[in-house]
Amino acid sequence: MAAEKTLILIKPDGVKRRLSGEVIKRLEQKGINIKGLKLMKLSKEKAEKHYSVHKDKPFFNDLVSYITSGPIIAILAEGNSAISVVRGLVGATDGSKASPGTIRGDFSISIDKNIIHASDSVESFNHEYPIFFNSSEILDFTYGDENLF
Ligand code: PPS
Repeated sequence: MAAEKTLILIKPDGVKRRLSGEVIKRLEQKGINIKGLKLMKLSKEKAEKHYSVHKDKPFFNDLVSYITSGPIIAILAEGNSAISVVRGLVGATDGSKASPGTIRGDFSISIDKNIIHASDSVESFNHEYPIFFNSSEILDFTYGDENLF
């Protein structure tokens, strides 16, 4: 199995709507292993760095002000093909178009309040995770049940 890491954010709407447990449940039941997790309020500087790939998009300022508007939960997770597997669990960007059964398809009806962010490539993960975690906050352990998934 090719273990891959990914960065997941439960966005302010997800935290405020008390959907964090639901999101974590879906990661756990799929066999995605959580290696780092923290509740935090993102600074404007960190938000701009995280979303820098979108800096020329018309929605950039809205995106930054929204992600800094309240607490988020950052999760560093690992698993077989974790980036594409988690993106599949998350669903399409626009909640009004995301398939039922995905997190956004089940809980969001908009493109901005869409509950969750997840890395879309290894390059994105490498850019994103140091904004949220330092090396001492990423635990090197195994759950011991990996061969059951
Ligand atoms: S793009 O243009 O295809 O690269 O953008 P996309 O990947 O669809 O979305 C990137 C992130 O921007 C958010 N988004 C928006 N926020 C506010 N307003 C509008 N109009 C808007 N459009 C897209 C979208 O939720 C994505 O957030 P993340 O956290 O990366 O999933």
